[in-house]
Parts: sequence; C-alpha cells; structure tokens
Amino acid sequence: MSKKDELLKSLRESHGAWTSGESLASDLMVSRSAVWKHIKALQEEGYKIESSTKRGYLLRNLPDRLLPAEILQGLKTVCFGRGKIEYYTETDSTNVRARALAQEGAPEGTVVVAETQTRGRGRRGRTWFSPPGCGIHVSVILRPRVQPHEAPQLTLMTAVAMAETLLDQVDLPFAIKWPNDILINGKKISGILTEMALEMDRVDYVVVGLGLNVNTPEEAMAEEIRDIATSLRMLTGKTFSRVDILRGFLEKLEYYYALFQDRQFERIRDRWKELSGIVGKQVKIEGLDRAYEGEVVDLDRDGFLILRKPDGICERIVAGDVLYR
Ligand code: BTN
Repeated sequence: MSKKDELLKSLRESHGAWTSGESLASDLMVSRSAVWKHIKALQEEGYKIESSTKRGYLLRNLPDRLLPAEILQGLKTVCFGRGKIEYYTETDSTNVRARALAQEGAPEGTVVVAETQTRGRGRRGRTWFSPPGCGIHVSVILRPRVQPHEAPQLTLMTAVAMAETLLDQVDLPFAIKWPNDILINGKKISGILTEMALEMDRVDYVVVGLGLNVNTPEEAMAEEIRDIATSLRMLTGKTFSRVDILRGFLEKLEYYYALFQDRQFERIRDRWKELSGIVGKQVKIEGLDRAYEGEVVDLDRDGFLILRKPDGICERIVAGDVLYR
C-alpha cells in the first residue's frame, strides 16, 4: 500500500474525528510535510479533507469518482480488481485500454475504469455515450480456458451479473434484452461489448466492457438517444453511488465467472432466460442482413436465439436487434 493510501486508511478509520498531523506522520513514518503533500494529492482526487493547525485533519466526504481506493473498500472478490485497477478521468475507450494491457500480459481480473470515454464503443460499430462522472465505464480482462466458439457465453454471463447487480440495489424491474442489453420500461440502461483475442486456435484473452447510465440527468443525455436510453437517476430522481454499483458488479461477475470456468454454463444460461423472459415471446429481429419474425423457443449454448418462424421452421439467429411484438 502506498503512503497516500495508508494515510487515507487512517483518516477513514478515524470515523469523523480529527487526527493530528503529528500522529499521522509518526504512524506512517514520514515527515509532517510529506503528510501535507499526500493530503493535497487526495484533495485533488476529490476527497473533502479539512485541515486545522490545531486539530489536524478530518475526512468529511468521499469523492464521487470510480477511484481504485474506493472500489477496494469492502470489495468481496478474490481476483477481480485485486491486481490492477487502472483509473482514467478520461480515455478513448476502456476496452481499448484493457486490450492493450492484456497484450502486455496483464493478468485475469485486471480492471479498467473511466469517468468519461471520448470514443466509447458499442456493438455493431455504434458508439457508447459516456458523459463525465455520470456512468460506469468498465472493462475486465479474462483469460478463460475455453474454445473460441464458447467465448460469446461470457457476454451472456456479464449481462446476468449486471442485471442481478441492478436488481439487488434498485427496486425496479430490470430485464435483459437479447443479446446483452439491460432494459427497463423499454429503454436501454446498460450495454456490453465483449472482445476476444486468439492465439493459434485458443483464446488468449477476452475483454468484457460494460457501460451503465447511472446519474446521467435527462438534459445531459445525447438527443439522438433520449427516446431510447435511460439512467437510474432519470428513473428514480435519485443519485446513486457508482462505486457501490461497480463493486456489486465485480462481485457478481466473479461469482458467475467461477461457474463458467467450472463448466456450469447451463446454470448461467438458465438465469439469463429467467432475467430476459424472452422464451415464448413473439418477436421481430433486425438481423445483420435481413429481418425475422416468430416465437422465441430457446437460447442455445452459444447464446444464439432459436426462433420458430410462422411456417413452423426453427432458425438459429446469430446477431441482431430484438423488437417485442
Ligand atoms: C452496446 O450496447 O452496444 C455495447 C456498449 C458497451 C459500452 C462499454 S463502456 C465500457 C467499455 N468501453 C467501451 O468502449 N465500450 C464498453
């Protein structure tokens, strides 16, 4: 732990009481001017720390930022977020950063987060709107022991982890929309982009990237998506702790990833089906090159939809956007 993190820990553990500069300096075995330097750095990160020549320092408020030190507070994971959490106030895309780290050999469970992305990427060449400080933009590096054709299962797994996180923390009926959007009242609140790199014929790494609109006010939502996207704040009028949600997500993701590695994908798929409620529904699907209509019969092991068309013939749909009828 760095001296700055140790200092933050001491201030946290004071539970709203003042701590003298002298005792902080002696606990950390640094000079009082070094304490002051770390206090300044923490204040710049957004920690509200009061200082008084007589009484010392007092931690008043935590920053509303996805800082590694905050994510780690009470995080109940063994691997995810335990090695490196790379934090950006701004970056092009957390998926791009995570892929670069993975190429350099970063281990499984490495996390990249950003307050805002200048080139947030979505599925099918779309962009992900990422206004500063409003949402969660996170990518996690995985190194699964699977064949390339099994990797799309990780997208379903991530959707289950996010849907459960939201259902745990917010009392609203979130649902998964195939393949991996989280919707509420027909509007999208979260999306997932999974990217994979192969080495010969095996998976080298997978990056799962997730965007969630948390505290985005309606007026900050890009006009072109205002009718189709929403945020927790728009739904409830409340402000949420992004750090709490992200922590919950990493814990769920680790839980489901352990099932996945344990060859228990069936359990994840069953949960996906429950959370999507799509089986048995009449849908229209805008596929890559054509549209389909029919009743959803199942989701297969590869995450493809099995659709019974009006002529009774079943078809496997690989990609597309679903419209409920
Ligand atoms: C989609 O719904 O089309 C997928 C959106 C995925 C967005 C996330 S935000 C974090 C990560 N970094 C990116 O550039 N994209 C994903």
